[in-house]
Amino acid sequence: MQVKKAVFPVAGLGTRFLPATKASPKEMLNLIDKPLVQYVVEEAVNAGIEQILFVTGRNKRSIEDHFDIAFELEALLHEKGKQDEAMAVRSLADLVNIFYVRQKQALGLGHAILCAREFINNEPFAVLLGDDIIDSERPCLAQLLDVYRHWRGPVLALEQVPMEAISSYGCVKAKTIAPRTYEVLDMVEKPKLEDAPSDLAIIGRYILTPDIFPILERQQPGKGGEIQLTDAILELSKSRTIYGCHFEGNRHDCGDKLGFLKATVDLALKREEFREDFTAFLQTKVCRI
Ligand code: UTP
Repeated sequence: MQVKKAVFPVAGLGTRFLPATKASPKEMLNLIDKPLVQYVVEEAVNAGIEQILFVTGRNKRSIEDHFDIAFELEALLHEKGKQDEAMAVRSLADLVNIFYVRQKQALGLGHAILCAREFINNEPFAVLLGDDIIDSERPCLAQLLDVYRHWRGPVLALEQVPMEAISSYGCVKAKTIAPRTYEVLDMVEKPKLEDAPSDLAIIGRYILTPDIFPILERQQPGKGGEIQLTDAILELSKSRTIYGCHFEGNRHDCGDKLGFLKATVDLALKREEFREDFTAFLQTKVCRI
């Protein structure tokens, strides 16, 4: 069965980015000229996703507005002769079919996915986390879908991270079965350095199958008192093989202030319109250190 639906859990509190996230969602933080969430929606659309469900919480109204038609703004832009800008604003509303469900309490990522159960029904689906911005030639999600189509099972996006950073991630023990493709043998959420089975971290892109839902329903709170998606996938691995895709591309952790800064600089340097001036500016700064 083809993967046509994607779930975007955006109900987290974004505590690492306070006070910026006090009254507006982390997913709407602006990276150069687009909010984070738009990069991720575009990745999903470019990978062939046709329907997106946002699992939202309090303070997330601006995400809905961003992907909605803004009649007044469009009319004003037309009046001022800004036809390109008007088209850019409208194209966002036409990008993809978007649906919303509310996670009433932020009980964890696993619980947020459970809120998507009715929408997903009995189909395989993608999950994309808005924090992870992945700069790649082929969309990261499309790479995961290649693995799904070949191996017919749930797929996790994997990245090799420095060992001293592994405690910030879900981590896997895995066996290589094809180039950049793994069979996942074990998983642990935010392990202590000495308990980490490898330096392969789980990144915010997943292909899941609907048999995850009954497991999530029974799932008890894990690390941090939250219902963890990793725990549920580990449980699922007892009944079916879970795969890992070591995707090609450069990931930025934009849920973290330093990661966000690095993403801004990296993406700006890739933009033709900024490259020369911005490089010269950075050189003056670096020379002073
Ligand atoms: P994070 O662990 O990054 O949490 O969640 P967070 O609240 O967004 O940010 P910090 O850590 O407090 O700064 C990973 C993803 O899961 C979603 C978040 O929105 C984010 O996309 N999430 C998390 C939910 O949708 N609901 C939850 O209850 C928890």
